[in-house]
Amino acid sequence: MSARNRILRRRWNIARPVEPTSPARERAILVGVDWKTPGDSPDGAWPVEASLEELAQLARTAGLEVVGQVTQRLERPNPATFIGPGKVEELVERVAETAANVVIFDDELSPRHQRELEKALGDGVKVLDRTALILDIFAQHAQTREGALQVELAQYEYRLPRLTRAWTHLARQVGGRAGGATGGVGVRGPGETQLETDRRVIRRRIAHLKAELEEVRAHRSRYRARRRREGIPVVSIVGYTNAGKSTLLNALSDAGVLVEDKLFATLDPTTRRVRLPGGRTVLFTDTVGFIQKLPTHLVAAFRATLEEVAESDLLLHVLDATHPQARRQAEAVLETLEAIGAAGKPMVTALNKVDRLADPEEALALASELPNPVLISALRGDGLPDLLEKVESILKKDLVPVDVVLPFDRGDLLQLIREQGVVESQNPTARGLRVVAMVPPRLAGLLGAGES
Ligand code: GTP
Repeated sequence: MSARNRILRRRWNIARPVEPTSPARERAILVGVDWKTPGDSPDGAWPVEASLEELAQLARTAGLEVVGQVTQRLERPNPATFIGPGKVEELVERVAETAANVVIFDDELSPRHQRELEKALGDGVKVLDRTALILDIFAQHAQTREGALQVELAQYEYRLPRLTRAWTHLARQVGGRAGGATGGVGVRGPGETQLETDRRVIRRRIAHLKAELEEVRAHRSRYRARRRREGIPVVSIVGYTNAGKSTLLNALSDAGVLVEDKLFATLDPTTRRVRLPGGRTVLFTDTVGFIQKLPTHLVAAFRATLEEVAESDLLLHVLDATHPQARRQAEAVLETLEAIGAAGKPMVTALNKVDRLADPEEALALASELPNPVLISALRGDGLPDLLEKVESILKKDLVPVDVVLPFDRGDLLQLIREQGVVESQNPTARGLRVVAMVPPRLAGLLGAGES
């Protein structure tokens, strides 16, 4: 159901476009660098063509028409214009030939790069980088309050150092729409230039957004505490954008194992309660889509959401096994997980889209490099029982054995054991129902107390 490069799709569903930088039908030229020494580039391992292909998909997702691309082999960025002076000239020519009005760099530009390039390309040509484009897509897709707040914060943090005279009108527009929170927009203090005023307004807005996001985090953390008390484990579905995370969540729900949307329904519409084969209830949550070259400061803006991943009991990494860059996509996901402090979590790897796989051998080779692999087709439902069994067996490691006799009128306790644990056997005895089961330690304590 998604365009190829929607990111954080479920979270940032389309609603209030936060000031798109690239309105539809703009014509874009893409610029990529083929780094001579991969170590010089943070993501040097991606071949420039593959990375530009992804950038083109991102551009189209943002509503742009891609009319050309320019590449250069470089050892390190030019301090002024990122690419060399000769390449800048070539770029100016290509822009004129194609009547392009946007130039998008595949790597992150410094504020100086952006200024110098805009100067060289002249009025009417906007210079963006991958980060700005991704932020633009996030902004178009943000629907929940949490999503919108986080995107707005990331946008302001990205823009603040880049604020020049040319951008000031944007600051006024955003501030104006944001209403009371920014207050006093356009009202200069004594001796203040418009630029200074805009910077001050943005800083104030950033502080306000951070405070609001703290509330969201506190709210989430209360939910997590409640969930822990109820003994319901959470499985976070993570993966590269377009890997099939949402399709998988829907498939798990449609497989009849879904019970209902609960608990997080208000904050997180993509959490589903699912019953595992042994009867235990878990929450599957479709949290986050990753992409290569996502700057850490941008990732940091999404802390409230990403904490959910870091605090979950198990990660379900969905990987598009048919993608030519599958291995690199997996690496990008693992690196991002590391950056958000979720690297040590137990993980199941779902190699998805096997229905389209030309060479299963390759997928098997990839599978052997990743933790707890299962081959699936979320679209056709293949492999889902195996996947759920694997999830169940890993989660079982947190359970402890109990052997209890429940009074016949305590059906409620049996129900609790079924929901939170796995019943291994149940037999009626003269004193009541003898149940041998694996349950969370908390429930084991409760049953022990009940028994004595
Ligand atoms: P983002 O929202 O971008 O993070 O993507 P996502 O990971 O949620 O992917 P989504 O579920 O939206 O699926 C992306 C595309 O892959 C859609 O066109 C799906 O129909 C397709 N897809 C998902 N699973 C399968 C599968 O098992 N087989 C095939 N052939 N296509 C699949």
